[in-house]
Amino acid sequence: MAPARRTVAALLALAAMQPPALAGAQDGAEECAAPGACLGEAEVEAAEHTEADALRVELLQSKSAAVRASARLSAGAGRAKCTNSKGVVFDCSGEGEVCCGDACMAPRGTCCTNVMGHSFPCGENSTCCGDTCMAPEGACCANSQGSHFPCGKGSVCCGDVCMSEGGSCCKNSLGAHFPCGEGSTCCGDSCMAAGGACCSNSLGHNFPCGKGSTCCGNGCVGPNSVCCTNRQGYRYPVVRGTMCVG
Ligand SMILES: *[C@@H]1O[C@H](CO)[C@@H](O)[C@H](O)[C@H]1NC(C)=O
Repeated sequence: MAPARRTVAALLALAAMQPPALAGAQDGAEECAAPGACLGEAEVEAAEHTEADALRVELLQSKSAAVRASARLSAGAGRAKCTNSKGVVFDCSGEGEVCCGDACMAPRGTCCTNVMGHSFPCGENSTCCGDTCMAPEGACCANSQGSHFPCGKGSVCCGDVCMSEGGSCCKNSLGAHFPCGEGSTCCGDSCMAAGGACCSNSLGHNFPCGKGSTCCGNGCVGPNSVCCTNRQGYRYPVVRGTMCVG
C-alpha cells in the first residue's frame, strides 16, 4: 500500500529524532537493540493507525461542519426572527412562518390587530373581525356597543347576536333587534310562527297568534274557539259551543 510506505518513511524520520519515546511506546520495541533498525510490524501498524485516525478526525470534522451547515440552513435560513412587545427576540421554527405580534404565524395566515393595537395571527383564509379571527364566508357584525364579532358561515348579523340565514331579524318596540327562526316572522316584540296571525291588542301592541288561529280582541281564537263581541264592541274568545254573553 502506497500510504503505508509513505508513513514508514515519515516514521523513520520521526524515529531518528525521538528514538526512546517511539520505541518505548510500542510493544516488542524493547527487543530492538538499535533504534531505526527494527522498524517492524508494530511501527508500521502504529503509523497506519495514526494515519487512519487523522483521516477519521478529518472526516468527522468535515461531517460535523456539514451537519452544522445543514442545521443552519434548515433552522436559520428563511426562518423568521421576531421581536415581541417586550423587546425579546424569538425565532419562528416552523417552515415559512412569519412574525405576527408576539407570535409566529403560519404561511399564508392573516395578521390581525385588536382594539388594544396588539397583533395576533389568524389562519389561512381567515379574516380579522374585532378582536377575533373570522372563518371564511363568515360575517363580521357590530353590536349595539360598536364592537365587532364574527358570525359563522350560514349565519348573518342580527343586533348583538348571529342569526341563521333563513330567519328574520326583528326589531322590538325599544328599537333593539332580535332574531326569529327560519319560517317565522316578526310580530310586535315577538316572533310569529308560519301560518299564524299577527294581531293588535287594545293598546295597539302587536302580538302573534299561533298557526290556524285568528285574532280576537286581546286574544286568539283557535279551531276549538269562537270569537264573541260584547255590546261595547269588545271581542273575546270562548270555547266552541259556549254562548256569547254580554
Ligand atoms: C384557502 O383558500 C384556498 C382558495 O379557496 C383553498 O385552496 C385553500 O385550501 C384554503 N386553505 C384553507 C386552509 O382553508
